[in-house]
Amino acid sequence: MNVNGTPTRTIWLAEDGATVEIIDQTRLPHVFEVAHLTDLDDACHAIKAMLVRGAPLIGATAAHGLALAMRADASDAGLTIAYDRLYATRPTAVNLRWALDEMRALLAPLPADERAVAARARAVALCDEDVRLNEAIGDHGLSVFRDLWDRKGRPDRFNVLTHCNAGWLATVDWGTALAPIYKAHDAGLPIHVWVDETRPRNQGASLTAWELNQHGVPHTVIVDNAGGHMMQHGLVDACIVGTDRTTATGDVCNKIGTYLKALAARDNGVPFYVALPSPTIDWTVADGVAEIPIEDRGAGEVCRLWGRLDSGDTAWITVTPEGSPAANPAFDVTPARLVTGLITERGVCPASAEGLAGLFPERATAA
Ligand code: MRU
Repeated sequence: MNVNGTPTRTIWLAEDGATVEIIDQTRLPHVFEVAHLTDLDDACHAIKAMLVRGAPLIGATAAHGLALAMRADASDAGLTIAYDRLYATRPTAVNLRWALDEMRALLAPLPADERAVAARARAVALCDEDVRLNEAIGDHGLSVFRDLWDRKGRPDRFNVLTHCNAGWLATVDWGTALAPIYKAHDAGLPIHVWVDETRPRNQGASLTAWELNQHGVPHTVIVDNAGGHMMQHGLVDACIVGTDRTTATGDVCNKIGTYLKALAARDNGVPFYVALPSPTIDWTVADGVAEIPIEDRGAGEVCRLWGRLDSGDTAWITVTPEGSPAANPAFDVTPARLVTGLITERGVCPASAEGLAGLFPERATAA
């Protein structure tokens, strides 16, 4: 996607062929800043502190982090340490484990002196693959939107609600839930996006709104609690979100608040779609509510907000009284029964074991 007209990915190799560069997403939308990752510590920090975030981008950064680690210590012990440290950065997005497993499967059988070069090449390939998968999701999602828009009698405005940021900032490029939105906008569908602010970190208000602005997609930011009201008043034609981990049975774990949107969508007959590349499917998990680890990011994110002051400076402000405790579960699980369809790189399927097995027969039988 473009930033001020320049094609940009969220993660890339610097000209020295070694340093990894990322967009520091903790500074958006007010400051566009590139951060440099030169070693394992930098990569772990970038994921943990959310300079990069979003399931596919977490996986891509972990792959590059492992490659950086191999430059310093490509021994078996070095590989294990790097794998374990990256794996411990964030618990919910399964793309992290997937990317680390892919890297380890390639590297472990190689002699140590071949690992650094092979790791870098695989990390780059994994990023390119992410772009391909997301663009395919965009094409399949465009067909879904076109169909819904046709069935509504081609209204002048087609309203889609999204939660959190599942755009190109959450991936290497294109995004998952936003890929169909970009495709639809570019194809001339009169798409308008309701952007949930997504407290506590405001990924919707800060990142999704910034992305849509850059691409010229009409959108409106709403507070997290407004979605149900919008749906009751016929102002939402479809919901589309991303996911950090989808079970083999179609339960969808995504940013906290997604479940409430799915409930409101069901009550109001609004289709609720989830867009995901196959590395986001956890074939080992059947019950999302019981089995998916939900990240607790601590009270600080609930009590404090970062933003721009009227003076133009950026600052943190505190919104809760001193002494009030806060809880911060970062994700929730939407049961498969509330999901209208899963949009993957291979097409659209029902959110069910049978639906996923139909699209990914080789994975479903291996699980
Ligand atoms: O905590 P975050 O910002 O990493 O959470 C991101 C999300 O919940 C996204 O919706 C999800 O990763 C899908 S991204 C394509």
